[in-house]
Amino acid sequence: MQPPFPCPTAIWHNDTYESISPLRPELSVAGKTVIIVGGGSGIGRETALAFATAGAAHVALFGRTDATLQETAASILSAGKASCSVHIGDLTKADTLQSAAAAVGKWHVLVLSSGYCPTPSTVSSSEEVEWWKGFETNVHGTFLAARAFLPTADPSQAAILGVISDTSLLPVSYLTGLSSYVSSKLAQAKVYEFLAAENPNIFIATIHPGVIETNTFNRSGATAENLPMDKGKNTQHF
Ligand SMILES: NC(=O)c1ccc[n+]([C@@H]2O[C@H](COP(=O)([O-])OP(=O)(O)OC[C@H]3O[C@@H](n4cnc5c(N)ncnc54)[C@H](OP(=O)(O)O)[C@@H]3O)[C@@H](O)[C@H]2O)c1
Repeated sequence: MQPPFPCPTAIWHNDTYESISPLRPELSVAGKTVIIVGGGSGIGRETALAFATAGAAHVALFGRTDATLQETAASILSAGKASCSVHIGDLTKADTLQSAAAAVGKWHVLVLSSGYCPTPSTVSSSEEVEWWKGFETNVHGTFLAARAFLPTADPSQAAILGVISDTSLLPVSYLTGLSSYVSSKLAQAKVYEFLAAENPNIFIATIHPGVIETNTFNRSGATAENLPMDKGKNTQHF
């Protein structure tokens, strides 16, 4: 199913496909330490499992909810391919990120899959703290996570992958009530551009993942029926 909005790609995939399979030898991350911020659910969880499938030596999971992070860790450990550690913290608090960075040590891949979609509302009707929470999580959190983890990046081979959203490129007529989410995701994309320019030794890229039914998606007020939803589960590998 093609999306009912302007599409940036000729082909819209709804599932994993062979050329991005984590089982491909050329996509191996054998021996690497991978950190997933937001690894307890949704895209972050599946990304963590995919990196474990691709041979990561260690996967470190960061988020606020111990129970969901432990569920992801259990899936990784039962696959028997990577060690895993859980780091409880709030990415809007510098000290919890710094503790996690110290505990993990040198890393090779940092995936920032955390995000928050404030309750949809018009600008004039939004509750101020709720509206700002989009920026607090998506922009301030990215800023703090980068500052906490950059000092321990492997100096010879490191990558940061930021999960953004191409909703920020769509006309606002498709995005009723999402001013905080969409504006903060656009600002977040710019933060990654600056990080890439300022850290030429690190591969830094942003990812728009498609449309997946997760807690964040459900908070947006969108309904899955008319959207080209991803199947979501990478079940052929786990
Ligand atoms: N689903 C989609 O269709 C879609 C499309 C485009 C982009 N995205 C982006 O994809 C990313 C992942 O979202 P998702 O769809 O997978 O939804 P999700 O399952 O709700 O994941 C969001 C994750 O962020 C973590 N998080 C939120 N606030 C945090 C905080 N202050 N500190 C630490 N962790 C925090 C949450 O964990 P805790 O609550 O346990 O901390 C959760 O694991 C987001 O950046 C979102 O904007 C999603």
